[in-house]
Amino acid sequence: MKLFCVADQLIESGDAEKTAQLTIIAPVRAILRMSDSPLNEITEHLVIVSADAAIPSRTAARVLSGVLAERLLEFVPHLDKVFFSNSGTEAVEAAIKFARAATRRPGIVYCSHAFHGLSYGSLSLNGDPNFREGFGPLLPECIEIPFNDLAALEKALASHTIAAFIVEPVQGKGVIIPNDGYLRDAFELCRKYGALFVADEIQTGLGRTGRFLASEHWGIEPDMVLLAKSLSGGQVPVGAVLTHKFRGGGDVARSTV
Ligand SMILES: Cc1ncc(COP(=O)(O)O)c(C=O)c1O
Repeated sequence: MKLFCVADQLIESGDAEKTAQLTIIAPVRAILRMSDSPLNEITEHLVIVSADAAIPSRTAARVLSGVLAERLLEFVPHLDKVFFSNSGTEAVEAAIKFARAATRRPGIVYCSHAFHGLSYGSLSLNGDPNFREGFGPLLPECIEIPFNDLAALEKALASHTIAAFIVEPVQGKGVIIPNDGYLRDAFELCRKYGALFVADEIQTGLGRTGRFLASEHWGIEPDMVLLAKSLSGGQVPVGAVLTHKFRGGGDVARSTV
């Protein structure tokens, strides 16, 4: 908050040295404009906790983001990287980009009745025509298969063009529980055909099914875990992709921009 106040004064003062400082923070001018909004009250608290966290940004490493990332990874020890987003749907978008960049393949497999969000990438993985109709064309190379159908999954994966299988361990719409062994076998099929297994735990994660991740009930270790919703208890718009460095992958780092 201090930084924002100073910035407002700088604009009026026209001081050359201070104007130079202002240039440094110019990329986030859109945030500075909202000096009377509730968002700044939240930001004020972040500044008090750590000056390093003064300006929320997805593109720079921040102390508080790092602390949260470490805490999350303590619960999911097979993964070691976290990318934060502003919503669940953005976490899905990031997962699509990471998967394509890492595998250099275009295809994404998703399930009927799936809900992964409503922005264009995640809408392309939406298994309900009511959400999709009227908004096409959607993302190409997204293949729908029935939930719990391993043969359909293998048929899609056998094309060797699939970057990832993105699945809710328990489907949120209708609370559809997977058959015993479905997720484990789906995970093994992804391994067999070189596709990534992405667990959308935006509904099921953070302890909602009795374990930190619903995936744990079936002993699977997804390549990516997507979180949002309970991550801030609804207080702050935030989502997260928990993942790991992909062996021999493509240009994953660029897919965060
Ligand atoms: C499983 C799942 N994935 C993704 C999303 C999208 O999250 P958000 O609404 O934060 O964009 C939702 C939202 O309900 C969801 O249930």
